[in-house]
Amino acid sequence: MPADNPETPKKLEPFRTPKGVHDILPADHDFHTYIKKVVRHRARQAGFRRISTPMFEYTDAFARSIGDASDIVSKEMYTFEDKKGRSLTLKPEGTAGVARSYIQHGMQQLPQPVLVYYYEPHFRYDRPQKGRFRQFWQFGFEMIGETDPALDAQIIQLANKIHKDLGIADMFSLQLNTIGTPEARKKYMQVLEDYYTGKERSLCEDCQYRLKKNPMRLLDCKAEDCQILAELAPKMSDYLDKESIKFHEDLKGYLDEMGIEYTENDRLVRGLDYYTKTVFEFWDKTEGAQNAIGGGGRYDGLIELMGGQPTPAVGYAAGVERIIANMKKEKIRVPCKDELHVFVAQLGDEAKKKCLVLIDELRDVGLKTMGALGKGSINIQLRLADKFDAPYAVIIGLTEVREGVAIIRNMEKGVQEKVEMKKVAARLIKLIGEENLDQYHPGELLYG
Ligand code: HAM
Repeated sequence: MPADNPETPKKLEPFRTPKGVHDILPADHDFHTYIKKVVRHRARQAGFRRISTPMFEYTDAFARSIGDASDIVSKEMYTFEDKKGRSLTLKPEGTAGVARSYIQHGMQQLPQPVLVYYYEPHFRYDRPQKGRFRQFWQFGFEMIGETDPALDAQIIQLANKIHKDLGIADMFSLQLNTIGTPEARKKYMQVLEDYYTGKERSLCEDCQYRLKKNPMRLLDCKAEDCQILAELAPKMSDYLDKESIKFHEDLKGYLDEMGIEYTENDRLVRGLDYYTKTVFEFWDKTEGAQNAIGGGGRYDGLIELMGGQPTPAVGYAAGVERIIANMKKEKIRVPCKDELHVFVAQLGDEAKKKCLVLIDELRDVGLKTMGALGKGSINIQLRLADKFDAPYAVIIGLTEVREGVAIIRNMEKGVQEKVEMKKVAARLIKLIGEENLDQYHPGELLYG
């Protein structure tokens, strides 16, 4: 074998995305655009306004709110130190940041409830698998400052509406439970701890740890042996306080009134510690808890826990990648607004100058126009127009420049017409149809 020539540069290994994260390519952006539009539309109808909290917060903001013993905090956070040694964490979920923001900006002074929604990327260092990524998008809604089961009902209805708009509502079942007040839960957790003591060896490794920190999490573990034990465990419903029972009965009454179906699931706990009373999740009808598309609940103690006044709240968040996967599974397509209308081909320097002006004019009237304007022959450029699926091409060569005209070619039929340069835009609008133009009206700017 000849020795490697040190003069020959080695072919560099191309970079790839880190494990568990993905590019959103243009075809998937069509889904994101559509989903964002539905979320914005439904949110606005219900009086919600958009909020964005930073990509990272002080680690304690998440640790204290989501809970030290939760899977998220104990093993899934992207935590790093900044140059001054402060511990920061990429946000694993949206509620903690919104609660922090509510307190920081004195939102308790605003008319209550404060209604906000978000559409953001989140980060969890989870084992990547189907529907589980290390960067994923969530949209979510939070209603802060009012306690009434009618709000819980409205949040659930809003989630339901959005799932319907996206064509996937029938694939999911709403699982509903109440986990009561913190006091009732404390009592119940003691009962659970007693029940599990002596059975530790039958539990999965995670549950052996959870038993010490939050025994309720043992109830919704997916491991087979843990599920058998969970089925025989004492029921939360036997330890609930009167207030939570009444709250839950009222909520169910409202859901019935609105015709929203739900399954009562007394083992639904949710993986975040801040919940009180209502908890719910939308489960895949075939896969169950695995790959839930969304979940939420009431968190009446969170704002106080984060240093604010006692403030009740309820919210919901859904995973966008999982929604898109389910839309694709149902063969749902979304409109793509990116298809070109016109490809401009030219030959010669003078023609190129005319084309630059014409392209600008066509785009301004709303015709989606591309001009590669390279050096190839007209034929090569027309082949390119075909590859880009442009229905029309505009051709300008030396003769056309001299005569002040352009050729408009119907790419499918292969027929051409000569049109006066200043009438090209109007003719193309006619051919494409005014209703199909991509016109942008940013609206009026207001001053002062
Ligand atoms: P969560 O159940 O942790 O709730 O997340 C909500 C949804 O985000 C999940 O149902 C799932 O669709 C998606 N999701 C979570 N982790 C991943 C992942 N690693 N990869 C892909 N998708 C994922 C919350 O985050 C709460 N903040 C919801 C809430 C809002 N509660 C009250 N207000």
